[in-house]
Amino acid sequence: MSAKIVQNMLKSVPFSRLCMSQIRTKATLPTLAFEYKDLEPIISRDIMEIHHQKHHNTYVVNYNNTLDKLQTAVTKDDTATIISLAPALRFNGGGHINHSIFWDVLTPHSTKPSDNLNKALIENFGSCDEFKKQLATASIAVQGSGWGWLGFNPQTKKLSVVSCANQDPLFPTTGLIPLFGIDVWEHAYYLQYKNVRADYVNAIFEVINWDAVSKRFAEASA
Ligand SMILES: [Fe+2]
Repeated sequence: MSAKIVQNMLKSVPFSRLCMSQIRTKATLPTLAFEYKDLEPIISRDIMEIHHQKHHNTYVVNYNNTLDKLQTAVTKDDTATIISLAPALRFNGGGHINHSIFWDVLTPHSTKPSDNLNKALIENFGSCDEFKKQLATASIAVQGSGWGWLGFNPQTKKLSVVSCANQDPLFPTTGLIPLFGIDVWEHAYYLQYKNVRADYVNAIFEVINWDAVSKRFAEASA
């Protein structure tokens, strides 16, 4: 194709349509690095299987369906429909992002924070135990469904503990880069811990993948 033909195409086709007409890779359910049973007794096999195969997969399917609708709406220059899809994108895209991080930062193996992360935890919270206490408190206090997070602020270079409602993704919502998250939707613990969210939240630190959290910290703070 000659440069002149490409130039004419660029003049005749709206930019947004050109972008959306490119081949889009569908979101897919990530494979876990461990078996569903491996986090027992902290998180039961049944919870892990249902959480991953049913709940996370539903976010993936609905996110892809919403992106298909968005692509059609952009092609038609249908601004009203494009805007109306924002909540579904946030909820399902957020659910996919959040759960993908969640599986990555859990492990059945014994791990510990890197020296750099441990130093940052001490600088920002006083100690690693105090960080756990603050994250547990924030997570337990979420009203309804949501997530507790350890995030890195790229502007101030500081660590923060925050919570987000529903499936609101951390970075688009707060500007913090997610390092570790606790899913406190009831589907994450109710089959095993019933209504005692605090027991689930306090226990999850037994299966935190510090190697993954340290890697995320190194990348975020580089
Ligand atoms: Fe979940």
